[in-house]
Amino acid sequence: MPITAVTGSASGIGAALCAQLREAGHSVIGIDRANADINTDLSSAEGRQQAIKQIIDRCGGRLDNLVLCAGLGVTAANCGLILAVNYFAVSALLEGLADALSKGNNPAAVVVGSVASVQPGVDEHPIIGQMLDGDEEGALAASGELSPNLAYAGSKLAVSILVRRKVHEWAKFGVRLNVVAPGVVETPLYKASTEDARYGEATRNFVAPLGRGSQPAELANVIRFLLSAQASFMHGTVVFADGGMDAMIRPDRF
Ligand SMILES: NC(=O)c1ccc[n+]([C@@H]2O[C@H](COP(=O)([O-])OP(=O)(O)OC[C@H]3O[C@@H](n4cnc5c(N)ncnc54)[C@H](O)[C@@H]3O)[C@@H](O)[C@H]2O)c1
Repeated sequence: MPITAVTGSASGIGAALCAQLREAGHSVIGIDRANADINTDLSSAEGRQQAIKQIIDRCGGRLDNLVLCAGLGVTAANCGLILAVNYFAVSALLEGLADALSKGNNPAAVVVGSVASVQPGVDEHPIIGQMLDGDEEGALAASGELSPNLAYAGSKLAVSILVRRKVHEWAKFGVRLNVVAPGVVETPLYKASTEDARYGEATRNFVAPLGRGSQPAELANVIRFLLSAQASFMHGTVVFADGGMDAMIRPDRF
């Protein structure tokens, strides 16, 4: 029975994924702020270390799968929190759980990014470099100058680059690592964005070529595939599961 740790397990995509994994026979370790097997706040360094320690304890030091799904959207209390959860927690958990994954059976990890990462101009902002340099203090200090939209898109771009930069290191210890980049997924995070005074209208009007948003289970399907042996040659890839949004935004770049 594969042992799979999932952050953001209490809601949305993470909750749908945990249900599918349990159904498929995985032993699931859910991590979230509340209503999870491990209740911890991933926005703080202490909360991340607690998560890492408790995951390692629960899996006996051998973890088969890891899915980093916990995230905050543009309605988060401040931009620093968006960077802390969406980027720095992912970076810390990948680092802290790499050894346990290297001892797993056909190990694989998936990070949940976003199609927001391809938003034009985001890649030119210095906050991306600060995140990738691991400068959490500097990035949090600079986050006061960011719009929530830029903080969100930037955190998702940085986390996608982080994954891609790990391909050699993680291949050496035999762990596949990929990103799933959703478009619209009908979850509490998305609903809050549609009701936001600043971004609500634009969010509601941003519709994928397929003409609808997705259900959390549709994303869980893609994540499960990337964890499975059927995806045995997929590594360092960003898989857009977005109803065509990435192709709509930048048809000639991929
Ligand atoms: N819903 C969308 O349209 C959409 C689109 C693109 C990407 N995503 C990404 O998908 C992932 C899952 O989002 P969702 O839409 O299922 O949202 P959601 O709000 O339903 O679930 C996110 C989960 O993350 C947890 N979380 C947030 N901050 C945390 C913290 N400090 N510590 C521990 N857990 C924390 C929340 O408690 C929640 O259970 C996120 O990374 C999000 O950025 C979502």
